[in-house]
Amino acid sequence: MCGIVGYIGKKPAAPYLLDGLKKLEYRGYDSAGIALLQGQTLIVRKEKGRVEQLEKARSAAGTAGIGHTRWATHGKPSKENAHPHVSGKFALVHNGIIENDYELRARLIKWGETFSSQTDSELIVKLLAREYCGDFLIAVKNVVKQLRGAFALAILCADFPQTIVCVRQGSPLIVGKGKDYLALASDIPAIAGEGVSAFVLKDGEFALLRETDVFFYDAQLRKIEKEQTEYDLQTDSPDLCGFRHFMRKEMQEIPQAVKDSLLQIAQAEQSACLRELLRRTERVQIVGCGTAYHSGLAAKAAIEGLARIPTEVCIASEYRYRNPIINANTLVIAVSQSGETADTLAAAQLAKEHGAYVAAVTNVPYSTLTECADLLLPTRAGREIGVAATKSYNAQLAVLYALALLFAEERQKDVLAQKRALQAMPQMCLSALPVCEEVRGWSSYFLNARSVYFIGRAEDYAAAAEGSLKLKELSYLPGEGYPAGELKHGTLALIDETTPVIAILTRKDLAEKTLNAVHEVFSRGARVFLITAFPEYRNREEVFASVLIPACERYFSPMLSVIPLQALAYYTALARGNDPDKPRNLAKSVTVE
Ligand code: M6R
Repeated sequence: MCGIVGYIGKKPAAPYLLDGLKKLEYRGYDSAGIALLQGQTLIVRKEKGRVEQLEKARSAAGTAGIGHTRWATHGKPSKENAHPHVSGKFALVHNGIIENDYELRARLIKWGETFSSQTDSELIVKLLAREYCGDFLIAVKNVVKQLRGAFALAILCADFPQTIVCVRQGSPLIVGKGKDYLALASDIPAIAGEGVSAFVLKDGEFALLRETDVFFYDAQLRKIEKEQTEYDLQTDSPDLCGFRHFMRKEMQEIPQAVKDSLLQIAQAEQSACLRELLRRTERVQIVGCGTAYHSGLAAKAAIEGLARIPTEVCIASEYRYRNPIINANTLVIAVSQSGETADTLAAAQLAKEHGAYVAAVTNVPYSTLTECADLLLPTRAGREIGVAATKSYNAQLAVLYALALLFAEERQKDVLAQKRALQAMPQMCLSALPVCEEVRGWSSYFLNARSVYFIGRAEDYAAAAEGSLKLKELSYLPGEGYPAGELKHGTLALIDETTPVIAILTRKDLAEKTLNAVHEVFSRGARVFLITAFPEYRNREEVFASVLIPACERYFSPMLSVIPLQALAYYTALARGNDPDKPRNLAKSVTVE
């Protein structure tokens, strides 16, 4: 959360910083700010709200600067809490969280310091001003030693024109070297460009950007050489292509994301590393957060059902606190679109420490998760800008289903039919997309709902959980994804005429049972909206409205049933006046625990 950017060059820095911040807004949009060095004077501009609020700073002079877009952790969203923070000769932007904030702040107050913000970041710049004895880099190193937590910092010092020092510990940081300028950012798209080399910093590393040269250092400030990271130039040009929001555009890209991800894993199939993994795995644990956790729920059914390998799915933030049972034959699959989710990284690290083999299913090949994992199983969803995960969910399912099939083949199961079925899924997704417009009309029934229930059994429950998360995060309506059979054990008490219920029904063998639950909620006055693969259930009296999705191999159905669920969340958000691309209180990349 939070995005940082920096620029040193011959041109004015402000336009570069503002454009970079816009590309990082997916990381937070509570406030934004920039600091520029004009000779030896620090100029700071900040505003509450989105980066566009800072547009008037575009014409500010100065050819070196740093910028920040914030997702609030310590201190409410406000101009005072916006970065950069300044003390003495220093201006600083910070992405991350300082865990010993209380202790350090108390120490500074004791020394007579006063604070103008409630952020943990301000104390870093105060410490810097105190530590500084003329050597910029040493001052940063000495302060970093005192910090606990996760951070990526970029710092200006008035004594050093055309210079930025940056450091990474737990939060991503990339340095870019263009033809006649240097840059830094929390993510590659903010600095990518023709002829720009990117260098991904590792934890503990520092970089000194000066004029047109960049120097890298390890934690002891010994000079190091860094390899440049390959990246896809297209990451630089997100375009709405005529859509009103990225989320809607990204849903249209689902078939391509699934196709590309399947191709990618097909290419990896023969790698010695993967073959060895297929052979020796006895148990699987899938860890992830939010949508990534939900793709694990759907994948569990496929891995157990097709390959008969015991599979657990764990919320990453809980995993590390339950002393998980792991051995060398346990495969831990860490699923994360961004590859930067702090909870998922912590879970992956713990699994490694316990001797598990860790595979990363991520959309960002240069991410921290990739770095930490033994094996990368990339999704190829392309860049996802909407905060709500859409195509990345389908891409994760594609990779995890393909893995389930590889496990099954390794164990001599006959899965030829399922392999064909999986190859057909991009086309099936394409056929499912028109239902998005059909559910558009449903949103008017959800506008003032007290809560919304999503019910299903087995794979349909996995999709229900994801549908519910989508609606909550975008429309701010409370609700739950619930196993259809479990309702009658207590939760039915919450169902009445103010509670729309979305029922998902894609398995014929479960139809009667799921329809029992539908009948139960209907009897309590709920309007039932059915998502089904079977036309014969659409005309039942309990069903208020329905959409038909293509029937597919049972394990793969969440890949299709999620499509109308994503659309429902999107259109309900719009109808309630919310921005689906930037829901409140959220960020695309959650880099704090
Ligand atoms: O980047 P990750 O996949 O690790 O992100 C995990 C969750 O934060 C993410 O899926 C979140 O739940 C989405 N906003 C859901 O749409």
